[in-house]
Amino acid sequence: MEFKFDMEKNKDKVEEFRVFIDENRDRPGVLMPVLQEAQGKFGFLPEPVLELISQDLRIPLADIYGVATFYSQFTFIPKGEHNISVCLGTACYVKGAEKVLAEIEKVLGIKSGGTTPDLKFSITPTRCIGACGLAPVVNIDDDIHGKLKVEDIKGIIDKYR
Ligand code: FES
Repeated sequence: MEFKFDMEKNKDKVEEFRVFIDENRDRPGVLMPVLQEAQGKFGFLPEPVLELISQDLRIPLADIYGVATFYSQFTFIPKGEHNISVCLGTACYVKGAEKVLAEIEKVLGIKSGGTTPDLKFSITPTRCIGACGLAPVVNIDDDIHGKLKVEDIKGIIDKYR
């Protein structure tokens, strides 16, 4: 789904971002630092911000998308207030991580890698987080939930609502 980004509501940040572009416009390879600044400032790369970069630096929008989609550090959807990291490492996988992930997707009504429309939750698949003894493991923000059973997931998520 597409997330609307309101330039007016974010006008202070947008103004700071314009200043950053201005200060860096003569730098070689300016696009990468500008995209990193946008990702850091807005939490993702909103379309109107990419258009602003395109106009200001006179770089075609298609080229900007080309760079931004190439590097995984850039995202086009915002993260939710609570990030649910689902470990898909070997130990967790063997202990049913796929079913855990499928249940989380079902409870939240979004796919892995997505964010709920109310911006409350994101689901992020991850590699081993070093807690294999607790497999299958899910991290919600800084809390580890281990030895997860599919039937417990809804109750756990509800605590973060
Ligand atoms: S494989 Fe999941 S914590 Fe190690």
